Amino acid sequence: MPAQAVPEGSRDASAGPGWWQTGVVYQIYPRSFADTNGDGVGDLAGILEHLDHLAGRPDSLGVDAIWLSPFFPSPDFDFGYDVADYVGVDPKYGSLADFERLVEGCHARGMKVVIDLVLNHSSSQHAWFQASRASRDGPYADWYIWRDSPGRSTTGARRAPNNWRSFFGGPAWTWDEARGQFYMHTFLPQQPDLNWRNPAVREALLGVVRTWLDRGVDGFRLDVFNTFFKDERLRSNPRRVGRRGLWSWQHHRYDRNQPELLDLLRELREIVDQHPGRMSVGELFDGSLAEAAPLIQPGHLVFDWSLIQVPWSAAAFRRAIETRDAVFGAERWPANVLSNHDQPRHASRLAPTAAVAASGYEGDARARVAATLLLTLRGTPFLYYGEELGLRNLRIPNAEALDPPARRANVLFPWWNRDQARGPMPWNAQPGAGFTSGRPWLPLPPDFAQRNVAAESADERSVLNTYRALLRLRRATPALERGAQELVAQDHPDALTYRRTEGDAGAFVALNFASRRVPVSVPAAPAGRTWRVVFSTADRASSEALPETTTLGPLEALVAIS
Ligand code: NOJ
Ligand code: CA
Repeated sequence: MPAQAVPEGSRDASAGPGWWQTGVVYQIYPRSFADTNGDGVGDLAGILEHLDHLAGRPDSLGVDAIWLSPFFPSPDFDFGYDVADYVGVDPKYGSLADFERLVEGCHARGMKVVIDLVLNHSSSQHAWFQASRASRDGPYADWYIWRDSPGRSTTGARRAPNNWRSFFGGPAWTWDEARGQFYMHTFLPQQPDLNWRNPAVREALLGVVRTWLDRGVDGFRLDVFNTFFKDERLRSNPRRVGRRGLWSWQHHRYDRNQPELLDLLRELREIVDQHPGRMSVGELFDGSLAEAAPLIQPGHLVFDWSLIQVPWSAAAFRRAIETRDAVFGAERWPANVLSNHDQPRHASRLAPTAAVAASGYEGDARARVAATLLLTLRGTPFLYYGEELGLRNLRIPNAEALDPPARRANVLFPWWNRDQARGPMPWNAQPGAGFTSGRPWLPLPPDFAQRNVAAESADERSVLNTYRALLRLRRATPALERGAQELVAQDHPDALTYRRTEGDAGAFVALNFASRRVPVSVPAAPAGRTWRVVFSTADRASSEALPETTTLGPLEALVAIS
């Protein structure tokens, strides 16, 4: 069990930070983690079988929590992000009893369980939507956002109620013949937006939160939570000159980020806080740091995406960190993410040239520098399954994409194929990679015979063993888990360095983004102490004392403590 010096569950500042601040969260995409019945799709029993990888043994990664992407009944138009029953388990993933066993298994290892609530929209197959579309005056009539058409265009087509777009391409409005009205959807037509302004909807959705709290979950990831409320009058968004894609040609002033969200967040937190030690994290949908900042609250983090698109450059990461620190200030606690199920895998993103990608060595060296950054930067790190192996993107031609928006992509709607980051987890070099005995729903990574959990466990310099070492170091070093942060200026453009301080203890992190040696100046250690190296991706003697200047090896990441 991970050593946790922090009193659990307290949100009282005097009692210290909670696990959602000091801990590390590991995101699992259930379809792709481990399949136990040979249907090629991962399941809850598969996750339970592989908990040793995550926590509880000396060679586990040692994460503090898992976040499960949706496992609820779903017709899978958006692979689970279209929920047909918020309190059930889809039979393809198992049963509620399997879920309860999984929670028990995690808790027995000191791991928390965070689930993904998709409360902006449901599936069009949800019983609520079926009832809503069936009657304009039944009990569910106002559970979704329905409007009449304001008339016909010159071509005879029905005009939509306003100019809002769907993030997944096309208009945000779909005509429903049964009801004779348009309904609104921020994503696919099969994902109608719920009407959060209706008190009955609010009560039902907060009831979902209560149900899962009673079932013992420790937190919630709230899908696109800043879109729950739309402008009450549904005004059209102002136009603007955009980039590629019609989505960017409007200011999204009225289809998200409405002031009512803060009051909802307060009510949600009151419910969550009735169960000590629970947290939430909201996914900011297409928003700015200024929009994210006020939404960060005690026990509630926000994914602001500062780091997830930064290219491989010390200067670019420095700018991203400085900019966020300036907006968030010293009080707000950030969430740090390099990869997730919506974005390219960062081992590919950060090593984009063919030469680097082809070089397993350089690609992995970058992945190890990135891991050091992610696990030593101030904030809660969220890992995405497989990143601890340095997994690269799958190459899947657009014509074969399963990701629904990728299938709708066109000139006015450019989209990347999210399948590339959602492939099976390779556990070993056997056929099926230890993921499945059947045909996997997405292809196995082409290098799975070398890049898998078993092979990397046996290699001291693997990406996996780098993650394990960094997680161990983090748990043993309060300055890394919770310390204040200060960037340290360097003359060399390829060096990124910062200091973390907790009381009179400190940590110094130095990252070399270049494939050549780079000098760095080392700041004074707190309280007149000496910096001693405790981690390096190069062949550096552990506990070496750092002088005032040192030279980092090519792509070396180094951590020293005082
Ligand atoms: C954000 C999720 O992360 C993404 O996977 C999903 O497609 C959209 N929300 C819609 O739910
Ligand atoms: Ca299965």
